[in-house]
Amino acid sequence: MYLGRTTLSKFLIQQLEGIEGASDLGALLVDVAAAVKAISAMTAKGALSGVLGALESRNVQGERQTRLDVMANDEMLRSCEWGGLLAGMASEELEEPYAIPGEFARGKFLLVFDPLDGSSNADVNVSVGTIFSVLRHDQAHCPRTGDYLQPGRQQAAAGYAIYGPATMLVITVGKGTHGFTLDREIGNFILTHQDLTIPADSSEFAINTSNARFWEPPVHRYVTECQTGKSGERGRDFNMRWIASMVAEVHRILIRGGVFMYPKDTKDPRKPGRLRLLYEANPISLLVEQAGGRASTGRQRLLDVVPESLHQRVPVILGSRQEVERIERYHGEYDCGTDRPFISPLFNERSLFRPESRA
Ligand code: F6P
Ligand code: MN
Repeated sequence: MYLGRTTLSKFLIQQLEGIEGASDLGALLVDVAAAVKAISAMTAKGALSGVLGALESRNVQGERQTRLDVMANDEMLRSCEWGGLLAGMASEELEEPYAIPGEFARGKFLLVFDPLDGSSNADVNVSVGTIFSVLRHDQAHCPRTGDYLQPGRQQAAAGYAIYGPATMLVITVGKGTHGFTLDREIGNFILTHQDLTIPADSSEFAINTSNARFWEPPVHRYVTECQTGKSGERGRDFNMRWIASMVAEVHRILIRGGVFMYPKDTKDPRKPGRLRLLYEANPISLLVEQAGGRASTGRQRLLDVVPESLHQRVPVILGSRQEVERIERYHGEYDCGTDRPFISPLFNERSLFRPESRA
């Protein structure tokens, strides 16, 4: 039954051939996989672990940390700091980049991660995940914050783990997006989903509609058309999902298509979006593009956004290519006003010709 199965290590040796720093990158991804196995074991214990629930502490974003957030973060740091593969790490849970302790050699990669995405879902036994991005740092100096601020298109590798009924690891090194399932009995990740491909078209969308009053008009336009379904512009019915755990939404999209949106909104004017660019939007966007999908802010390809700070947030619209392109078109039409019928100044709000002004 185990004969001929492709393990993560075997697959990486084949995939990384010809890529600069192949053996170090492969070894680093194996270290990430080791951390993922430990986090999977922690989350699978549920309430038996005694570590569910929020702590008093908050992370740099002001969000309540859970014990699992802190434990998953420590697991990633411990698993990946020792091997001489990394020059530094940055995490959603740490305000500043993490320097590799002096006792370990420094390598030529940077690892950026969200140790437990959707962690508020752990208490209610819904899927959570780990998201990571690998950047290059081919310089002699110790990495500074600025060294992490690379556009997503420069990522050497990216991936996520999803801790669901099965634990899966989904990765890309820029040669397609591939999924591995953890065989718990033998402790190995086995290639089960080679070359994941997102259908170009779809009838499923995911957005937190409780934020509808804060959305921009192009997002309203798209969602309203989906809700109007068969009787409207789209001529077919749409389905909606919202798990509140990005890895779970993205995993569904990689398997059967769809669109995920956490768009720009006016909820908090200081935040241009909800999701973080470096360790949420960028790695997920690379996986989506490598699976034939599209990832955008609505106005720009996500992987081209030049980061300005470590914990920067960004609007995210990703998934089936044709749907994302349609939403981008709606943003473009809104920005140049062509989505609104021309209204003569004679008939506008304050016109003498409005019936009530003639009374
Ligand atoms: O990390 C941010 C995150 O937890 C995502 O995983 C998820 O998509 C989103 O926030 C959920 O946001 P909300 O609480 O607004 O539904
Ligand atoms: Mn997250």
